[in-house]
Amino acid sequence: MLFSRWKPQLLGALSALMFGVQTGDAIQLDLGDTNSIKSAASTVAAGMMSFYQGNQTGMPIGLLPNPYYWWEAGAMFDQMIHYWFYTGDSTYNNITTEALLAQVGPDNNFMPPNQTKTEGNDDQAFWAFAAMSAAELNFPDPPAKSPSWLALAQAVFNLQVSRWDLQNCGGGLRWQIYTFNNGYDYKNSISNGGFFQLAARLARYTGNDTYAQWAEKSYDWITSTPLFTDKYIIYDGAQIENNCTIVDPLQWTYNIGTFLMGAANMYNYTNGNETWRTRVEGLLNGSQTFFPSQYGNKIMVEIACEPQITCNNDQPSFKAYLSRWMAAATQIAPFTVNFVQPKLHASAQGAAGQCSGGADGKTCGRMWYKNTWDGKTGVGEQMSALSVIQANLISKVPGPVTANNGGTSKGNPAASSGGDNPVQYNDPSANAKITAGDKAGAGILTALVLGSLLGCVWWISFV
Ligand SMILES: *[C@@H]1O[C@H](CO)[C@@H](O)[C@H](O)[C@H]1NC(C)=O
Ligand SMILES: *[C@@H]1O[C@H](CO)[C@@H](O)[C@H](O)[C@H]1NC(C)=O
Ligand SMILES: *[C@@H]1O[C@H](CO)[C@@H](O)[C@H](O)[C@H]1NC(C)=O
Ligand SMILES: *[C@@H]1O[C@H](CO)[C@@H](O)[C@H](O)[C@H]1NC(C)=O
Ligand SMILES: *[C@@H]1O[C@H](CO)[C@@H](O)[C@H](O)[C@H]1NC(C)=O
Ligand SMILES: *[C@@H]1O[C@H](CO)[C@@H](O)[C@H](O)[C@H]1NC(C)=O
Ligand SMILES: *[C@@H]1O[C@H](CO)[C@@H](O)[C@H](O)[C@H]1NC(C)=O
Ligand SMILES: *[C@@H]1O[C@H](CO)[C@@H](O)[C@H](O)[C@H]1NC(C)=O
Repeated sequence: MLFSRWKPQLLGALSALMFGVQTGDAIQLDLGDTNSIKSAASTVAAGMMSFYQGNQTGMPIGLLPNPYYWWEAGAMFDQMIHYWFYTGDSTYNNITTEALLAQVGPDNNFMPPNQTKTEGNDDQAFWAFAAMSAAELNFPDPPAKSPSWLALAQAVFNLQVSRWDLQNCGGGLRWQIYTFNNGYDYKNSISNGGFFQLAARLARYTGNDTYAQWAEKSYDWITSTPLFTDKYIIYDGAQIENNCTIVDPLQWTYNIGTFLMGAANMYNYTNGNETWRTRVEGLLNGSQTFFPSQYGNKIMVEIACEPQITCNNDQPSFKAYLSRWMAAATQIAPFTVNFVQPKLHASAQGAAGQCSGGADGKTCGRMWYKNTWDGKTGVGEQMSALSVIQANLISKVPGPVTANNGGTSKGNPAASSGGDNPVQYNDPSANAKITAGDKAGAGILTALVLGSLLGCVWWISFV
């Protein structure tokens, strides 16, 4: 009794001690005022880019410093393309172009030798998404001697087609590209959802039905497995040794997000096909897991790790992708707007409240359902806050272009169609098995057991 009475104060004092929590001035955000949204986005973008050192002399271009993996930099520059598109602020455009081009690798397909040792299909997809966004949003084209944005996305698509694996689980992509990586024997939803989304976006942009056929095929495959249920629950992945029948049960925002984005693009490409409409609607239904009822069904929560405080360095960025793709859905599948808009609104307000920490009083935390900074900082926290805040400008900007309707990026459908080059990497010890923790992906394997246990406890306590 005594403890419960004093609990709030005790916890407050404790967290102040542990995290140095300050009650700084949160960034100001008035969602009814375009300039206020832009100004908040600018502050949060600057906070995110302060982690990036690639524009300083001698630092590798296009990479984030430890502990951030290669893929997250690709995701971050995609966010910056969106930042420019939403706000019109071109401050970071040159840095962004330079970073994307620095990581294309010798074959112009986002297989840079420094990264291939640990590169997964999902990692490569996040860079391809950035190139695809650049094409769809008419981000300034790169210099003529460089590969075009569209050709980079096509190259990744072609490579991933060549990796489609019929030998195990009836189809699908493996998580990892190379046999010597842990995770080569795992088929996961983000790798397959990444390929699906890329194919669907290429179909919409180019009008080439071959991409749509692959989108359809990959969707049909994953929904035939226990990874993706008929209730639109999407699990993390499954080992091939059991024919993908035993799933790792964690659910992540980016998985529902990537399928939502892909399905919305297919809905648009097919000019409103009812089957794709139903799938978009089903995925929105599925996304409600991440908007728990105790926060009014409106505030996005990374339920598998956030409340339990077990997120690794990758996972705090995942809400950036669901936010980004929910916003995109409102343009290309406009019937989604009534469902999506209140969630982006409430989540942005929550995120802005979290941006009240650190030395500057504007550093963003993670738990959008708490009204004081939670003591967390990082690229993922900044990116997620930036994404959900600027997503509230979606009704003010035009929809994504296509090749026939305003797009300037010239493609190359044959890019990398010869499949993977023999393994190329710089590290002579590359044949050594690396640990799951070395890889981008989601760092899933390490967090799995603890996360699902705590996840159950959290649900039992709150739902
Ligand atoms: C690198 O970019 C950041 C963010 O835009 C900027 O603050 C910094 O001055 C830049 N540094 C150099 C050396 O250009
Ligand atoms: C590859 O790694 C080397 C050595 O660490 C570094 O000097 C180089 O800048 C890296 N290249 C890229 C494209 O990141
Ligand atoms: C961006 O790069 C272009 C071409 O190199 C250059 O002309 C321009 O001044 C740069 N802009 C900024 C803001 O640095
Ligand atoms: C393996 O899984 C796939 C996809 O669910 C299914 O089509 C196939 O029939 C399964 N094979 C066996 C041998 O169970
Ligand atoms: C809509 O798409 C589904 C799935 O691709 C397809 O089976 C169906 O024939 C399409 N409907 C129409 C009217 O084209
Ligand atoms: C989505 O949920 C609504 C409301 O519960 C339901 O009416 C609808 O059938 C669901 N749609 C799909 C595709 O599951
Ligand atoms: C496809 O997307 C465009 C926006 O880019 C939108 O105007 C159009 O209505 C969408 N098509 C359908 C069938 O919703
Ligand atoms: C359509 O895409 C496929 C797959 O990349 C390619 O082989 C084909 O040449 C493309 N067709 C056109 C007309 O661009």
